Amino acid sequence: MTKIISIANFKGGVGKTTTAINLAAALRDLGKKTLLIDVDPQANLTQSLGIKDGVERSIYDILHKEAFGEDNDLTAAIVKASGLDVIPSSLELANAELELASIYGREQILAQLTKSLNNYDFVFIDCPPAMGMLTINALVASDTVLLPLQAEFLPLKGVRNFLKHFDHIKRLNKKVKLLGFVLTKFDKRKKMNRHVKELLESEFSKDKVFKTHIRINIALANAQQKGMDIYSYDKNSNGAMDYKELAKEFLLKV
Ligand SMILES: Nc1ncnc2c1ncn2[C@@H]1O[C@H](COP(=O)(O)OP(=O)(O)OP(=O)(O)O)[C@@H](O)[C@H]1O
Ligand SMILES: [Mg+2]
Repeated sequence: MTKIISIANFKGGVGKTTTAINLAAALRDLGKKTLLIDVDPQANLTQSLGIKDGVERSIYDILHKEAFGEDNDLTAAIVKASGLDVIPSSLELANAELELASIYGREQILAQLTKSLNNYDFVFIDCPPAMGMLTINALVASDTVLLPLQAEFLPLKGVRNFLKHFDHIKRLNKKVKLLGFVLTKFDKRKKMNRHVKELLESEFSKDKVFKTHIRINIALANAQQKGMDIYSYDKNSNGAMDYKELAKEFLLKV
């Protein structure tokens, strides 16, 4: 059974895209078949895997066709990058927010499309940092949600806000569950970082906080700039090790 996982947080720059790419890459190296879908108009995931602008089909074309009832095939938009299957985004995707707003069943467009995906172990959807039609479509299409959080700031207010919206999503998608929180850009020397972890564990149950932290590691940022996943860029980096650990823990949890 294909499991669909949204990687979401309304806050920007917390490591959603980095986690989508490198968790998928770590799972690829563990023999799992994964697909990445970029539903962020910033197209960071697309660019971070070295996919150039102007692909033949992007997620925008697919959503647009589906919304307007045209002939359509999600798998026709899949491209290969870094040994991963990817459905790229494009800047035009920003138009989808408005276009979808006036369509019946607007929250379920992506879910309709992903229903036919069955030859993957995991599909990861990289969400934009906002609660708009694109994030709603991603959450409605998903089995579970993974929330990366930067342990630098007190993120609880943001998390509570996310969970409030998530409760509304459950009316449209009864099966969707919160898989857990992943702390990113972690520095164990910083008291605040440890404090955030304790706060999360006490506010939510302990099993909702992944034991694996993603440490601050410049190689992760450099890999993205070079258009590679961390294993193609530097498989001995801390980032590579952390995402491998996360992948193992993910497989136990999912
Ligand atoms: N563990 C890390 N160590 C160092 N740099 C990191 C780490 N994780 C992510 N980064 C860098 O931080 C920046 C933001 O990360 P990323 O793009 O993954 O966040 P995001 O949540 O997807 O952002 P957005 O909300 O804009 O989509 C990027 O430049 C990325 O390379
Ligand atoms: Mg991103």
